[in-house]
Amino acid sequence: MSPFYLIFFVSNSIFLLSLFSFTIHAHRCTENFWSETLSRNLTLCKRYRHRNGVEFGWKIENTTQTLQVIVGARLESETGWLAWGLNFGPEPRMVGTQAFIGIKQKNGSFLGDKYNVTEYIKIGCNLLPSAIDLNVSKLEFSSLEHIQYHIIEATIHLPQTANISNINHVWQVGKNASGMEPKIHEKTLKNYDSAETIDLHTGEPISIRSARRRHARIAHGILSIIGWGVVLPIGVIIARYFKKGPIHWNEHDQWKYAHKACQACGYIIGATGWALGMWLGNSSKHYSFPKHGAYGISIFTFATLQTLALRYKPHKNDQLHTYWSIYHLALGYALLSVICVNIFKGIIILQEEDTWKPAYIAVIACLFFIFIVFEIINWIKFKVDKKKTDQEMSSNGTSYK
Ligand code: HEM
Ligand SMILES: *[C@@H]1O[C@H](CO)[C@@H](O)[C@H](O)[C@H]1NC(C)=O
Ligand SMILES: *[C@@H]1O[C@H](CO)[C@@H](O)[C@H](O)[C@H]1NC(C)=O
Ligand SMILES: *[C@@H]1O[C@H](CO)[C@@H](O)[C@H](O)[C@H]1NC(C)=O
Ligand SMILES: *[C@@H]1O[C@H](CO)[C@@H](O)[C@H](O)[C@H]1NC(C)=O
Ligand SMILES: *[C@@H]1O[C@H](CO)[C@@H](O)[C@H](O)[C@H]1NC(C)=O
Ligand SMILES: *[C@@H]1O[C@H](CO)[C@@H](O)[C@H](O)[C@H]1NC(C)=O
Ligand SMILES: *[C@@H]1O[C@H](CO)[C@@H](O)[C@H](O)[C@H]1NC(C)=O
Ligand SMILES: *[C@@H]1O[C@H](CO)[C@@H](O)[C@H](O)[C@H]1NC(C)=O
Repeated sequence: MSPFYLIFFVSNSIFLLSLFSFTIHAHRCTENFWSETLSRNLTLCKRYRHRNGVEFGWKIENTTQTLQVIVGARLESETGWLAWGLNFGPEPRMVGTQAFIGIKQKNGSFLGDKYNVTEYIKIGCNLLPSAIDLNVSKLEFSSLEHIQYHIIEATIHLPQTANISNINHVWQVGKNASGMEPKIHEKTLKNYDSAETIDLHTGEPISIRSARRRHARIAHGILSIIGWGVVLPIGVIIARYFKKGPIHWNEHDQWKYAHKACQACGYIIGATGWALGMWLGNSSKHYSFPKHGAYGISIFTFATLQTLALRYKPHKNDQLHTYWSIYHLALGYALLSVICVNIFKGIIILQEEDTWKPAYIAVIACLFFIFIVFEIINWIKFKVDKKKTDQEMSSNGTSYK
């Protein structure tokens, strides 16, 4: 085993992670939904695959500003609901949405109504049918048994003040309702991302902010995993096993340089990811992930302390040296476990459980395997050495007899 092995390992894990990271965001509708759209003479279709799996087909008439829409999704739970609406406010967001909501009833029928989603809903008031600020001439809720979809169909006469090239539309899927009252949806990224400003002529999103956010999230995840989750632990392994053994790499203190290089790289990569995460947290006005953020801040803080501590390392002969070593070691291992926990939290938030999670588990398993193997080798060596000295002792004893 040599440093080459480590380089191979690092590049391998980077490759694995990047392989899984760039999930394709296709905007084409499913065949089934597209044929439903066509059969209603609608011309455009958009599918939000990673955002609740809602599909949206429509047609816009330029002169009369008439918008015909069909919105569909698969509602799995017994009393699931599907909402879609327009928000004439300045932002694509939940509060202010003039919505249609279809709700699965316990007896199997799919009933719907109009809902004015106000700020009071967000703080917990019941969401009940009401008048809305849209001129609607057709509104139907139904289920398409052959494709197991529930759909909302509507014809809306947009006010002349609306800008067709710049419309905020909002959708949502919930799992629970009682009667005609939808209960709160889940609080995951796909529920928070379910709003967009689009050009109704083309279906293209107007603001590239949401696309940039998605890229930033992925970059944040990859940098954090590689920096905190891969390179730092490798540095720890180097410090523990390359100093005295099983790998002797200390003729010229190489292990020390390798350890410091690993920790510096890991720290820089991780801190970059952390900064991106801070930016993401600050720019998401309408939602937050407080626990993940708090863990992130403490990881950054203690990693910084750990780095700074190197400058105040007492001399070997100093009495404080032992205490310093214990502190450095304990904080290091505590840090590694918090990092592990927070990486899993982040993977759950990003909803990459199917892709990143196995990759990261594989990385941890590799590191843990190396750790165990080195521990066993050290232990065997210790036993052998002990036996040797014991033998020497007893043989010296007999020779003196
Ligand atoms: C049933 C009652 C509802 C409740 C109690 C509720 C509650 C909430 C809360 C508390 C948040 C923010 C979470 C956070 O800051 O951590 C949120 C976000 C969001 N909700 Fe709802 N919601 C409801 C229904 C709806 C409906 C019907 C829609 C769609 C028409 C919707 C769309 C959204 C969107 C797009 C977000 C992302 C943040 C934003 O745009 O403000 N919600 N919801
Ligand atoms: C779609 O358009 C065709 C041809 O213009 C017409 O015959 C048909 O009735 C229309 N279908 C619907 C659902 O409007
Ligand atoms: C409606 O207007 C847009 C731009 O204003 C144009 O690209 C589109 O072709 C028009 N559609 C029709 C059916 O006239
Ligand atoms: C199902 O229940 C709703 C009330 O919750 C009622 O309005 C509707 O008619 C019922 N549908 C059937 C098919 O029984
Ligand atoms: C919807 O709710 C908002 C906020 O309470 C209110 O200002 C608005 O008039 C309501 N819209 C309708 C059509 O009732
Ligand atoms: C709704 O739209 C239709 C068709 O454009 C129009 O005839 C009607 O006057 C509108 N109603 C309201 C209240 O604006
Ligand atoms: C409508 O939105 C487009 C795209 O944002 C913008 O270029 C245009 O100036 C807007 N038109 C009006 C009348 O506000
Ligand atoms: C659905 O909402 C009802 C009424 O608030 C509640 O009693 C029930 O536990 C909820 N079910 C689920 C699966 O959350
Ligand atoms: C045993 O004797 C050898 C030489 O005979 C010596 O080098 C070694 O230090 C001795 N070991 C102990 C434990 O006295």
